[in-house]
Amino acid sequence: MTTTLVKNGTIVTASDRYDADVYIDKGVITLIGQGLNLPADTVLDASGKLVMPGGIDVHTHLDMPFGGTTSADDFASGTVAAAHGGTTTLIDFAIQDFGAGLYPAFEGWMKKAEGKAVIDYAFHMIVRELSDQVSIDMDRMVRHEGVTSFKLFMAYPGVFMVDDATIFKALLKTRENGGLICMHAENGGVIDTLVKDALRKGQTAPKYHALTRPTRAEGEATGRAIALAEMAGVPIYIVHLSCSDALEKIKQARDMGLPAYAETCPQYLFLSYDDYERPGFEGSKYVMSPPLREKWNQEALWKGLVKNDLQVVSTDHCPFCMNEKELGKDDFAKIPNGAPGIETRLMLLWDGGVRAGKIDVHRFVELVSTSPAKMFGLWPRKGTVAVGSDGDMVLWDKDKETTLSAATHHMRVDYNPYEGRVVRGGPAVVLSRGEVIVDHGTFKGGAGRGQFVKRQAGRPLVPVGRRSSYERTA
Ligand code: URP
Ligand code: ZN
Ligand code: ZN
Repeated sequence: MTTTLVKNGTIVTASDRYDADVYIDKGVITLIGQGLNLPADTVLDASGKLVMPGGIDVHTHLDMPFGGTTSADDFASGTVAAAHGGTTTLIDFAIQDFGAGLYPAFEGWMKKAEGKAVIDYAFHMIVRELSDQVSIDMDRMVRHEGVTSFKLFMAYPGVFMVDDATIFKALLKTRENGGLICMHAENGGVIDTLVKDALRKGQTAPKYHALTRPTRAEGEATGRAIALAEMAGVPIYIVHLSCSDALEKIKQARDMGLPAYAETCPQYLFLSYDDYERPGFEGSKYVMSPPLREKWNQEALWKGLVKNDLQVVSTDHCPFCMNEKELGKDDFAKIPNGAPGIETRLMLLWDGGVRAGKIDVHRFVELVSTSPAKMFGLWPRKGTVAVGSDGDMVLWDKDKETTLSAATHHMRVDYNPYEGRVVRGGPAVVLSRGEVIVDHGTFKGGAGRGQFVKRQAGRPLVPVGRRSSYERTA
């Protein structure tokens, strides 16, 4: 299959909306126009559908060793689930081993993905130690491998956490090589002390995971990360921002014109601390870091998305089955951190964002595809529907109704955090480089068809400016 013609759809990008046909040749969009009548190997009728760029999920953990176990989705099951949800590119996290450079991690994650991934993928690199060798490797990753972003942790002492000096040195490195630091911003020292204290008092239930990770610990770390980046003179990207405390730090920085960026995730928009109060051990399903917050934070996060203080919605997909969660049956600190979401991001954001009148269709595209691409060196190859871009598209059915459930989802995990929730709006057909990979719920792609994408270095192309209003067009 080399050519595909998508006819009669309404193209929706971050900025435009118009009726046109799209012609894709060898994976790349070569023509957009009205009434195109070219011969093509595959012709799709997109009447009544929105033709949007495929989703880009910049925060996933596939086949990730963590918390004494490994995340339940690998690059096969995880990317199939992503495709079913309308996501056509992801950026996963490769993890540096202690005492090693960055190349073994890079090669290891390439092996995990090769032969399995069904959508295109790229990597961030998690840096746990910054030796001279690692410093050199950071340059090589950016300049030669297209791995242009690095995640550092201010939490998880003994596992991932690095000190301020290491953070500052890594930030300075990105000033030289054009990479970007992504920060897990929670104060690990404070949290560790609170966790030990709780366990000493016999507070072992899942809800204590949340109660020992206060929003102030996230706000403090977010502010500190921004200050360190300001002193180093570089942009910074805060991952999985969960609460108003942390958002306030981002807002202050952006008011000052600093290139401080942040993503949030659907779980922080649609779930809350109340989920930890579910009966028995059910709260463990929601043990993730940062934890779910009191419900009132959701409104602040939505406002952040509307105004562009938050630029990206990713998933932090890190699934563990219930038997793995049970590692922490008697000690919440032993519950593997993370929850599934790679498949449900677009549907949730459409239903709870666009249909609910909180964001318009263009902002939707921007949050799930265009800004992620611009943030992480994938644009304009990915993140838009335009001549010269990859033919990664989702033909969106505004009326499609889905009941989110572990019984029907494609993620390899035995629960769905949104079990029973009915969402309206979903992908009818999903194309990756012009190839139909999901057709009305049926997977049509092949294992290993996904390609590694080298990313461009340089300042994020996402504006620092604030949006003052939005149009309701859904
Ligand atoms: O709980 C989470 N978020 N698990 C994945 C690891 C991380 O910090 O992103
Ligand atoms: Zn994290
Ligand atoms: Zn994560």
